Amino acid sequence: MPRALITGVTGQDGLYLAELLIAKGYEVFGLVRGQNNPRVPRVKQIVPSVRLLDGDLRDLPSLIGALDAAQPDEVYNLGAVSFVGMSWQQAELTSEITGIGVLRMLEAIQIHTHNEMGRVRFYQASSSEMFGKVREVPQTEATPFHPRSPYGVAKVFGHFMTVNYRESYGAHACSGILFNHESPRRGHEFVTRKVTRGVARIALGLQDRITLGNLEARRDWGFAGDYVEAMWLMLQQAEPDDYVIATGVTHSVRDLLDVAFHRVGIGDWDRHVAQDPRLFRPAEVDLLVGDASKARSLLGWKPRSEFRSLVETMVDHDLAVARRERHGSAGRSPDDVVRQTGGPG
Ligand code: NAP
Ligand code: GDD
Repeated sequence: MPRALITGVTGQDGLYLAELLIAKGYEVFGLVRGQNNPRVPRVKQIVPSVRLLDGDLRDLPSLIGALDAAQPDEVYNLGAVSFVGMSWQQAELTSEITGIGVLRMLEAIQIHTHNEMGRVRFYQASSSEMFGKVREVPQTEATPFHPRSPYGVAKVFGHFMTVNYRESYGAHACSGILFNHESPRRGHEFVTRKVTRGVARIALGLQDRITLGNLEARRDWGFAGDYVEAMWLMLQQAEPDDYVIATGVTHSVRDLLDVAFHRVGIGDWDRHVAQDPRLFRPAEVDLLVGDASKARSLLGWKPRSEFRSLVETMVDHDLAVARRERHGSAGRSPDDVVRQTGGPG
């Protein structure tokens, strides 16, 4: 039975990846930080067979301890401060976890394997945010990076450390340059979920408006469930490499609002959306759209979900959650509803 260790198992991608690996017959270990992490019950509910280990990407001995306990064949490093907006307020913390945390995990593998890094395959959760002020459209593995946020800068550091450990020590280390991916499990701080949750609550009379920042930004949005499959495929290849994972289609935040409001029968959404200058970013990534041709040809990966059905699924999910909220039903968690509504078709 193959064994995998996931950092960031309490997050959106960690949950989908744990489900995927369990379905493939893996024994899965998840790194959990903090003495009373409020997201642990959700992990235990969705993936009860995952074995949780205490550890933090800021603490090297805890990472070595987790590796020694899990004895993994594969490590998926998904843990990060992942909210770009927050990375300006807490640039040092973001660098520490999202950047140096990658180096720490690579070093921990080095120590755990007694310098035989090739024994453990490593996946680094890199990001299209690294392209930032994009030098070409669409972006590929060869597009130069120009990060626009402390988060993006930290991810560039983690990406090149991953490449460097591969080239220096023969690590089977892959960097997945993933474009934005969403789901009903997405955190409420990200724009898709903020919109789908807000639209659902507006439709049910629980709130009047959504307050947003830049509506013109364009992203290449896919479904998280499709993207974790690409992570796994990268680690199954004989040779480690870096791959762009994207749908190849870009939409603006306005498009997102159109689809989400249309789902609840609201055509003219202007009166429900306010803009607050404080939600604009000090430096914006205006346009992201990826070319995943390499992943298509070498991994045989392609996205199964498209933008409209993804957004509609998220709105439907949030309608179900908001209905429970309206009826004061506290007995069931949003993830019970995720199971009923599933992913986008
Ligand atoms: P997420 O939902 O925000 O999850 C982040 C995870 O990181 C959480 O489990 C969090 O644990 C964990 N974490 C934070 N600080 C940590 C620390 N000091 N030590 C150990 N774990 C820590 O993010 P996601 O959307 O699943 O994304 C997963 C990874 O992919 C991230 O690295 C993200 O930057 C990257 N990525 C995401 C996207 C996307 O569109 N989703 C695109 C490209 C790259 P707690 O529960 O304890 O906070
Ligand atoms: N979060 C948020 N909230 N974003 C807003 C808002 C708002 O109220 N209003 C407009 N936006 C715009 C942002 O300025 C940005 O251009 C776009 O919506 C997407 O923002 P997020 O959903 O926060 O995602 P992100 O693109 O910054 O980062 C996500 O994708 C990256 C991959 O490109 C995160 O998942 C990162 O962890 C990931 O690396």
